[in-house]
Amino acid sequence: MKDRLNADKALTRRALALGTASLTGVSQASAAAASFPKGFLWGAATAAHQVEGNNVNSDLWVLEHLTPTIFQEPSGDACDHYHRYPDDIKMLAKLGFNTYRFSIEWARIEPEKGFFSTAELDHYRRVLAVCHEQKLKTMVTFHHFTSPRWFAGMGGWENPASVDFFTRYCERASKHLGDLIDSAATFNEPNVPMLLQWLPVDIGIARGNSITGNAARAIGSSKFGTFLMGNQDALRDNMIASHHRGMQAMKSASGKFPVGVNIAMSDDQAAGADSGRDRKREQVYGPWLRAAAKSDFTGIQTYTRSRVGPAKDLPPERGVELTQMGYEFWPEALEQTIRYAASQAKVPVYVTENGVGTEDDSRRIEYIKRALAGVQNCLKDGIDVRGYIHWSLLDNFEWMLGYRPKFGLVAVNRETQQRTPKPSASFLGGIARRNSL
Ligand code: BGC
Repeated sequence: MKDRLNADKALTRRALALGTASLTGVSQASAAAASFPKGFLWGAATAAHQVEGNNVNSDLWVLEHLTPTIFQEPSGDACDHYHRYPDDIKMLAKLGFNTYRFSIEWARIEPEKGFFSTAELDHYRRVLAVCHEQKLKTMVTFHHFTSPRWFAGMGGWENPASVDFFTRYCERASKHLGDLIDSAATFNEPNVPMLLQWLPVDIGIARGNSITGNAARAIGSSKFGTFLMGNQDALRDNMIASHHRGMQAMKSASGKFPVGVNIAMSDDQAAGADSGRDRKREQVYGPWLRAAAKSDFTGIQTYTRSRVGPAKDLPPERGVELTQMGYEFWPEALEQTIRYAASQAKVPVYVTENGVGTEDDSRRIEYIKRALAGVQNCLKDGIDVRGYIHWSLLDNFEWMLGYRPKFGLVAVNRETQQRTPKPSASFLGGIARRNSL
């Protein structure tokens, strides 16, 4: 066992050394020319449920507080971004970034079916206003995994009426906020449940499906439809219809900002002649890339590569470096997913998420360097990439895994809520300020 571990470590070091050497070659050679197009967006992202705290009217809050639950811990106060957003946004601007991507929370804006809260909409107007004061572009996600609990009680996205509900929310929110929004996405990773089905391990979705009955009882309903669980085909079709109708609603309510959809994408590599890679691509990305093709842009969210076997992804090879999520450390994935998405959807691309879960911030810096070298390669080949938004601004609530994984450029002490920018924050902020590697 010890020998195996040592051999694994040696392999990891070798792989890393090789990776770094070839990268250093690339980045040194191109360093002088490695600037980005004028107006390129440089940002960091958050999502309401992961940072705001006390999202008590949302479906996930219900699931977090069930016994048994599939969550390691509840989200609680999260990073208290709901109150601390002015300082967080100022910090982002001061670090050198020009964009803030965040989500507005449907469960706050429409806490009961048909009841819209002007006070909560005003809250998000204030968030947007601080961004503008700080000269940050605003990139707003209308749905980032969470929905109101009343919506879950009506069957969630499996209910065909979900399309009307989501469209009405998009219309109301755009009317109230649209003049301050620079670009918007209807959905964050609507395809992630499909992507998870290809994972070689069960991350708890199956257990989740078994507790939705308890969740329904907890909210006094016979149903509990939540995004990550349930009949994925029904869910997908209603979400695609919601994307198109939601986008139309945003455009007719405000008319100003471009709208896209942010797709979860892995760099899928065929492992063996019988690899299901092309089937996976069609099932997981196909319908959403076609939806993106009819939108203003594709948002790409990439973390790693997958070696795709006949029916599932294969586990990472022995000895490779793993992130806190158990994914392979593979920043080169970003270049490949940009190329694939751009070739399919043929609309401009924004990297709306890319990052790494690690306690070792020097690995984050390495990840960013190598991922951005890939963005440069795409730009050199004429691909229309318009921005790079890092996940995440803050260490935050990583869904079922709780607060253990660290994706932030900025550490958060959850006792005191004190923020401490990590070296990676100044590293990426410096690139943003120079608009050049
Ligand atoms: C999601 C984020 C999540 C991140 C890291 C993406 O799938 O959009 O909410 O925190 O990946 O796992």
